[in-house]
Amino acid sequence: MENFTYKDFTLQWHITHRCNLRCKHCYQEDYSAFEDIDKIKPVLSQYSELIKQYNCIGRLNITGGEPLTHPGLYDLLDLARLKGMRTGVLTNGTLLGEWEARRLKACGVDYVQISLDGMEKVHDNIRGKGSFDRAVNGICALKAQGIFTSVSFTVQNNNIGELKKLASFCYILGADKLWFDRVVIPSQEDSENLSVPAENYWKLLKTAARLNKKGRVFCGRSLQFIPCRDKLIYHCSAGENLLIVLANGDVMPCRRLPYVIGNVKETDLLTLHQSSPVMKQLRAVGIPEGCRECKYSTLCRGGSKCIAAAKTGRFDIPDPDCMLSKR
Ligand SMILES: C[S@@+](CC[C@H](N)C(=O)[O-])C[C@H]1O[C@@H](n2cnc3c(N)ncnc32)[C@H](O)[C@@H]1O
Ligand code: SF4
Ligand code: SF4
Repeated sequence: MENFTYKDFTLQWHITHRCNLRCKHCYQEDYSAFEDIDKIKPVLSQYSELIKQYNCIGRLNITGGEPLTHPGLYDLLDLARLKGMRTGVLTNGTLLGEWEARRLKACGVDYVQISLDGMEKVHDNIRGKGSFDRAVNGICALKAQGIFTSVSFTVQNNNIGELKKLASFCYILGADKLWFDRVVIPSQEDSENLSVPAENYWKLLKTAARLNKKGRVFCGRSLQFIPCRDKLIYHCSAGENLLIVLANGDVMPCRRLPYVIGNVKETDLLTLHQSSPVMKQLRAVGIPEGCRECKYSTLCRGGSKCIAAAKTGRFDIPDPDCMLSKR
């Protein structure tokens, strides 16, 4: 039996796949999955049991699709708080006005994340006309309630030049944090417009490092610590203290890895976490071979498995965007 010692454990729960937008890069194929709150509530009990067994902090991130399209959102957040979990909501922000922000405040959410994929023209090109203005209004509504608000920027080939402008904009807006990560496109799909070549990402990391020094951009994701020389070194949690539940109950190790390891209607989260063969394989990767001579290897442990899987079909090799690994 493996020994599991975690300080915290994150559940990213996609409570519905319904969404009012159709972003170009979105990894969802289905936009209809939806079940009433009473049908999905057992997920919370399973998660509660898991964090009790691991004696760690529960971090519940509710998302979608668009989580604000689910009428049960606030009840789920209230329930999670009663169970002692930390809660966050990941949203596109376009349905978030003063009433919703007040309601989220009353639920005691620890933070809300809103996606901005560039300034207006670029963002609207990816997410649809008018979505930038509505998301910005959402950020303002959250800040008016004093809710910690982070902005998520998904780096794609068609928006890679936007980070600098977006950083200044988010600073003026009063957002608490701007973070970014790479788009993940399955290798079999036509990815020319979206997938970011390694050289371009490396250049972006240097820009991000300069912005990080001014406190404008958070550089806490895989590989981002290298030019930033940040003390915080992130490592990919796939297989470890992270699980994803989709709106139909399917469970994944990470939303960006293409594996379904079971369904909560048949097997509970704790059993899936401990016994799923895919979870065991992910945990067994440790430090991939091409990373062993790297001075960051024990902390970074090979970068992002989702990027490796999307670009090469394998998750047990170094992150293909890392210039320090031996390939
Ligand atoms: C699936 S969305 C759900 C929340 C909300 N609908 C939104 O767009 O923010 C959560 C995050 O996943 C990102 N995302 C969607 N498809 C992705 C992909 N193929 N690769 C990487 N991130 C992706 C979105 O940009 C967003 O920041
Ligand atoms: S708003 Fe989020 S869930 Fe909806 S299409 Fe865009 S990325 Fe996908
Ligand atoms: S060589 Fe491997 S361990 Fe080192 S920074 Fe790159 S991906 Fe991380």
